[in-house]
Amino acid sequence: MNVKIFDLERDHKEFKDNLIQIFEKVLSSGEYILGKEGEAFEYAFASYTGVRYGIGVGNGTDAIRIGGLACGVKAGDKIVTTPNTYIASAMALTTHGLIPFFCDIEPDTYNIDPERLEDLLKKERGIRLCIPVHLYGHPSHMDEVLDICKKHNVKVLEDACQAHGTLYKGKKTGSLGDAAAFSFYPTKNLGCYGDGGMVVTNSPGIYNQALMLRNYGQTGKHIHTIEGFNSRLDEVQAAILRFKLGKLDEWNERRRHIARVYFNELKETPLKLPHEAPWAYHVYHLFVVRTEKRDELMNFLREKYIATLIHYPTPIHLQHAYSHLGYTKGTFPVAEKMAEEILSLPMYPSLREEEVLYICEQIRTFYKK
Ligand SMILES: Cc1ncc(COP(=O)(O)O)c(C=O)c1O
Repeated sequence: MNVKIFDLERDHKEFKDNLIQIFEKVLSSGEYILGKEGEAFEYAFASYTGVRYGIGVGNGTDAIRIGGLACGVKAGDKIVTTPNTYIASAMALTTHGLIPFFCDIEPDTYNIDPERLEDLLKKERGIRLCIPVHLYGHPSHMDEVLDICKKHNVKVLEDACQAHGTLYKGKKTGSLGDAAAFSFYPTKNLGCYGDGGMVVTNSPGIYNQALMLRNYGQTGKHIHTIEGFNSRLDEVQAAILRFKLGKLDEWNERRRHIARVYFNELKETPLKLPHEAPWAYHVYHLFVVRTEKRDELMNFLREKYIATLIHYPTPIHLQHAYSHLGYTKGTFPVAEKMAEEILSLPMYPSLREEEVLYICEQIRTFYKK
């Protein structure tokens, strides 16, 4: 058996004909950017997420950049996110002149620790935007985050790039903060065939600002009211995403089923398995286990033709790109320890039960050695 870490070709096989039809339809419409398909998908995804507005953009990084700027932050302002996320959670705005701060995480959900956030906001005056990341598809503790941020006059932009369909106390992630950013990168729970992203919000002000920012700051043809970007979700991707949105809940359920098989088969091993809080509906964008023998296990599985990955091996504050900030090892111990021990096992809707059983059998063999 040869198990891939993602298998996009297999995931899409069953509806390849539908995708080709959609592509042909858009091709013959003659409308490729900012047309009816984009609007229809923005409406559909905003409704799915339980918010009023969706603004399709070029990718998830731009969704954070445009969503953040639309919340009112500007160059020189301070922002805070977690150190154990994908680099884009910080880089989206630091490339625009914003100053990053990091807050350590909870050891079980791997998401922002509200107590440490409160300490940071008390200590470091002037942080204007908080970007909680719903990492791996598990929601952050949003009630606490929102309360603390409100108290300190900090706006909240959810990084929901890994959390399409995740529930926090019955509500969709993306509907909780001032705005939220989604990515439709191909491997995401809802992915397109290239890059894509969306800002969602309930605020008419943030909506209008994001609409301008994604399209050269335009308010009308050749009327540029503010400086903006060129970052739009194209019609082909939007049409395909609208079709795939109809399958998202079923795929998320399939991921949860695969997770249950992993839990059952691995419960006797020393691995630390993912946590699902009682108030959460985890969509398992990634299935991340933990062990001090991470590198040995990874090599062992590679020899058995099972691919794994590490999301993410170096916390953001220790990346060379941010060396000018002067962080050293030991600053965020929970996130740093996690980075040394985590391993992502294969997780995608078309992963077969016999493949999951094979992976688990090999892991059990590893521990028997
Ligand atoms: C947590 C997180 N934030 C931001 C991004 C950036 O999204 P994109 O790759 O679409 O720019 C990603 C995905 O790669 C992500 O996983």
